[in-house]
Amino acid sequence: MSELEKEPLTDHNYDGIQELDNPLPRWWVYLFYATIVFGIGYFTYYGFGIGPNLNEELEAHMRVLTPKTEMAIDYESLEKDPAKKEAGQAIYVAKCAACHLTDGGGMIGPNLTDNYWIHGTGRLADIIAVVQKGVPEKGMLSWESLLSPDDLEAVSVYVHSLKGTTPATPKAPQGNPVP
Ligand code: HEC
Repeated sequence: MSELEKEPLTDHNYDGIQELDNPLPRWWVYLFYATIVFGIGYFTYYGFGIGPNLNEELEAHMRVLTPKTEMAIDYESLEKDPAKKEAGQAIYVAKCAACHLTDGGGMIGPNLTDNYWIHGTGRLADIIAVVQKGVPEKGMLSWESLLSPDDLEAVSVYVHSLKGTTPATPKAPQGNPVP
């Protein structure tokens, strides 16, 4: 008689094949109970909205991973940051004025002071996007690899601040009017 067969027989009998009533190992049973307790806790925490939902978790992770994305940039305070604007002006004069003129009136590149935009609607986020990627086929460089992220942001803040100013020799509007 093996060790197992000392266990009591059940009354199941199928064509002479009998079944032993082996109790499950204790460790297995406790593990099983533990998964139930964990499952109830998990369901309560996430299922009833006590914990974060998937979107909140994604956003939290994205904030950590990409501190410079649109999501993390506070455009409103950036637009009003005088230090950024000043830093941006120096970069603008050095790198952009050749085509857009010092006062933004436009020459090879479009007028940056008017309410007409070829790319986007003149929001700071749109300006950053076009300066980043450029329009290489039209002669506007992609500045992403030429300027540091901070400088790119600064020069965009400066361009944004040119809106509504009056340049000496404004180039005729190009693109779409933005109310
Ligand atoms: C070699 C000339 C040249 C230089 C230098 C240049 N640009 Fe441009 N830029 C252009 C041209 C040309 C366009 C128009 C692209 C088009 O027609 O789609 C343009 C478009 C733009 C636009 C979009 C305007 C609109 O109406 O949508 C912005 C913003 C801009 N440039 C900013 C800058 C900034 C900031 C710099 C400096 C970091 C810069 N540019 C340097 C030629 C230039």
